[in-house]
Amino acid sequence: MKRIAVIPGDGVGPEVVRESVNVLAYIAEQDPSISFAFDYFPWGTDHYLRTGEMMPQDGLDALRHHDAILFGAVGSPRVKDHITLRNLLFRIRLGFDQYVNLRPIRLLPGVPTPLGGATSRDIDMIFVREGTEGEYAGAGDFLFPGTSRETALQTAVFSRLGTERVIRWTFELARREGRSVTSVSKGNALQYSGVLWDRVFDEVAAEYPDVATRRLLVDAAAMFMVREPRRFEIVVASNLYADILTDLGAGIMGGMGLAASASLNPERRFPSTFEPIHGSAPDIKGAGRVNPIGSIWSAALMLDHLGYPQWGRRVVQAIERTVASPRTRTADLGGTASTGAVGEAVVTALAELAAEPEGAAAS
Ligand code: NAI
Ligand code: MG
Repeated sequence: MKRIAVIPGDGVGPEVVRESVNVLAYIAEQDPSISFAFDYFPWGTDHYLRTGEMMPQDGLDALRHHDAILFGAVGSPRVKDHITLRNLLFRIRLGFDQYVNLRPIRLLPGVPTPLGGATSRDIDMIFVREGTEGEYAGAGDFLFPGTSRETALQTAVFSRLGTERVIRWTFELARREGRSVTSVSKGNALQYSGVLWDRVFDEVAAEYPDVATRRLLVDAAAMFMVREPRRFEIVVASNLYADILTDLGAGIMGGMGLAASASLNPERRFPSTFEPIHGSAPDIKGAGRVNPIGSIWSAALMLDHLGYPQWGRRVVQAIERTVASPRTRTADLGGTASTGAVGEAVVTALAELAAEPEGAAAS
């Protein structure tokens, strides 16, 4: 029995998480060796407006003994974003030392991309985003507040330990997958943090002579992701750079509705979080047209993490079938299907895949 903490959160979060839970519940029905207990935590902006806090003081303790966290989204026009994001999502990422933020960027067959002529062979990369440091570490200050000299300090934090562990994890992944690693940084302009990152990257790379490596400056990386996405196989970058570049990645893979992520604590001292990349999308909240695929794909990453990679693969195959047909796409992909219809289509595709001989599914 795996205990899953479910935090639907704000905006479209509950709408997409509902579909992921349905997919997971279906898998548990099909496979006698799998069962899930879902514990719901109603944290987010409504909770904040009622109680003054996004999650209870002892919230991390309530999550600690779960096998994984399934997260929707956070953020609402009713409360400032830095309050909502930092006091829920960042508390979990930092508190549970989720230093690997894994983000697959893949153009699925048949999905329209704004990059004319690009195919799914061109856009097939995995981003490893550092999750606990960089500009998002939360270090900083306001000086001379309320005066004309008001000054904001946002301190980027790059420790050797924090840099090395995420880079090393990336190389282990690259070795397993037989793929190259591209490091993205800005060592020319940032003479402390960028230089440390590059130095640690080179040191770790020397231990993996079997893995091909490249280094790119972040501005050039943005350009190449559009012009030559094929260059990128596995990419490792700091918190801020990978945050920005993976929204670009979501754009070229067909939109925010498709992109998934896993915030991992690789040592498994704490639970890991599985969530779509997108935010709470207040502009389409409650309309039944949010794309649940990013969330369902994150559930596939969760299945991998929990030791059911055969199911993780199958969910991704079911997603491929679903988005390949315009009839089972939401509006962001040019379709007319509702959120619920897309979720049901993924379950139907899973049932079809199960009925097919092994191997036939590998389309
Ligand atoms: P967003 O990702 O919520 O939305 C950007 C655009 O993409 C919107 O037009 C939205 O309708 C569309 N979109 C997003 N997800 C979609 C989906 N699954 N299907 C179809 N269309 C989708 O980002 P935005 O607008 O910058 O932020 C909205 C709120 O979300 C803010 O409060 C922000 O702080 C928060 N946020 C939270 C994140 C999280 O919980 N992980 C991440 C990013 C933003
Ligand atoms: Mg982002």
